[in-house]
Amino acid sequence: MKIQTFDQYQEAYRQSVEDPENFWAEIAQEFQWRKPWKRVLQWNFDEPSIKWFEGGKLNITENCLDRHLKDRADQPAIIWEPNDPSEPTVTLTYQMLYDQVCRFANVLKRNGAKKGDRICIYMPMVPELAVAVLACARIGAIHSVVFGGFSARSIADRINDAECSIVVTSDGAVRGNKVIPMKDTVDDALIACPSVKRVIVLTQTRSAVSMIKGRDVWWETEMKQVTSECPAEEMDAEDMLFILYTSGSTGKPKGVVHTCGGYMVFTAYTFQNVFQYELGDVHFCTADIGWITGHSYIVYGPLANGATTLLFEGVPTWPDAGRFWDIVDKHKVNILYTAPTAIRSLMSFGTEPVEGKDLSSLKVLGSVGEPINEEAWHWYDDNIGKNRCPIVDTWWQTETGGILISPIAGITKTKPTYATLPLPGVQPILVDENGVEIEGNGVSGNLCMKFPWPGILRTTYGDHERCRQTYFSTYKGLYFTGDGCLRDEDGYYRITGRVDDVLNVSGHRIGTAEVENAINMHTGVVESAVVGYPHDIKGQGIYAYVITESDTAHEEDLIRRDILATVSRIIGPIAKPDKIQFVRGLPKTRSGKIMRRILRKIAEGDTKNLGDTSTLLDPNVVEDIKQGVLIEAKA
Ligand code: PRX
Repeated sequence: MKIQTFDQYQEAYRQSVEDPENFWAEIAQEFQWRKPWKRVLQWNFDEPSIKWFEGGKLNITENCLDRHLKDRADQPAIIWEPNDPSEPTVTLTYQMLYDQVCRFANVLKRNGAKKGDRICIYMPMVPELAVAVLACARIGAIHSVVFGGFSARSIADRINDAECSIVVTSDGAVRGNKVIPMKDTVDDALIACPSVKRVIVLTQTRSAVSMIKGRDVWWETEMKQVTSECPAEEMDAEDMLFILYTSGSTGKPKGVVHTCGGYMVFTAYTFQNVFQYELGDVHFCTADIGWITGHSYIVYGPLANGATTLLFEGVPTWPDAGRFWDIVDKHKVNILYTAPTAIRSLMSFGTEPVEGKDLSSLKVLGSVGEPINEEAWHWYDDNIGKNRCPIVDTWWQTETGGILISPIAGITKTKPTYATLPLPGVQPILVDENGVEIEGNGVSGNLCMKFPWPGILRTTYGDHERCRQTYFSTYKGLYFTGDGCLRDEDGYYRITGRVDDVLNVSGHRIGTAEVENAINMHTGVVESAVVGYPHDIKGQGIYAYVITESDTAHEEDLIRRDILATVSRIIGPIAKPDKIQFVRGLPKTRSGKIMRRILRKIAEGDTKNLGDTSTLLDPNVVEDIKQGVLIEAKA
């Protein structure tokens, strides 16, 4: 299934469009199935109903673990680099990972978990996080990993939406020189989570935590009670594998659902091809397993290929801005997959942290999560890849499960800032506001997909109608990505950013409505409107316009800090506004709709070209906002 030349890519692409079922069936056959599927694909985008390899029986962990034991039991599956570089690295071979996963799967069973149960995982970037994820999959429980930066309230919302019965967490986490109290946060969340019967706590920081009798158990104690024998649960290809919550344009995050068969085939195929992984290579994806990038390209994609995947606990700038390069040097990393925001942040330290580091093991560089600007692309190419490593700018989403548009390393000619061409099986289409296809090259429009690929989301947990409305109703018969896109004269795609009310802050997806709801919860706030603005490092920053009651007792600066604290508590620190401007009114149409276009322009510092303001209920509001003194929010 590995593409080795551009001709082969074109041939695979042609086949995948002309005969998608046979194309994917051939790829799927390379995996271990207990029973063959009855039909390769059944779909319609109206309901939507999408089924790949239905009737096929498998367990993804047999494909990620068991089948590698014969040939590579002693090969490293996971290399773990701790936060503190003076502490030892941990290497788990395929045999060791298999044993740990089976043991923890038995622990889950011992604590009442069974097929179909939902399990929330809220953990730092330690090998046990990958173990917990795979152990759920082993027994057919559905994992819902929640990123460690989310607040108690966000955890509770996610647990309640999926009615999780078990939470797996750790006492604390270390990131840079900070200690983060994970268990305390979980305890706060659980006050409002009646479905949770058990909490399994890993000892990581040895900080003091409360352990509630009858509910909380220690990971280490439990692991001693079980054996490393755990037969894998037989799953249908279309049984749920996991839920991952992501933000949309409305207030409440939605649980994107992926299923076992299609997701496995798609992540494995894209991993091998995009990165041109060769056996023995060390793959370092710097994302957190709490996001889709970590699910697909730290855990499932690499392990399904028998790869060695590096898991890093810390942050790129601690103890200094050379940390990534030290890791590349130390572990002889061959593939580095990171986000533009990390590149821009490291770029700001100059090339000194790169000097003296041996980066000669690198073969392929990857970028993901947000548009990469030209300057960052070249810095990455010149200073890290030394102009000899292809850069794969991979465009995809939580909902797509894996990469859809990307160069194939060393095979597709790259062009800075372009995600280039669709992978085999991916059929992009650009449409205008009315859903009319924009054909030809040198055009731009809204990016949609007209045919399913095996990794596409199947539903949003507990609310199928929301899935239909969000992705499949804007343009009939199409999956709408929410992104704007340009197709240049060569037919190359360049993603220009979201066209809906979703922000991309440091590669994290945040809904403006979500932030507004959090700000509005602060006492004294009457109304708010949140927009994104260009930010040198984060890509986009969060700009909040806030109306407060006139008689609040606190001065503006304190209210500003209070609002930040409220947002941190309601969502998490990642959603804190970068700038807060207090205003007396918001620009609204006569029907009461906020004109975000105007607010965006002002936030960008462009107060001259505000366009037509005549339809506003009160055009004076805009003048007021323009005059308003902008004081940067203090974190
Ligand atoms: O706007 C696109 C942007 O990130 C969004 C998806 O976010 P999320 O579901 O959190 O997944 C991020 C990791 C896959 C997309 O709608 N995005 C992602 N990759 C790129 C990108 N924008 C431009 N170029 C990319 N390579």
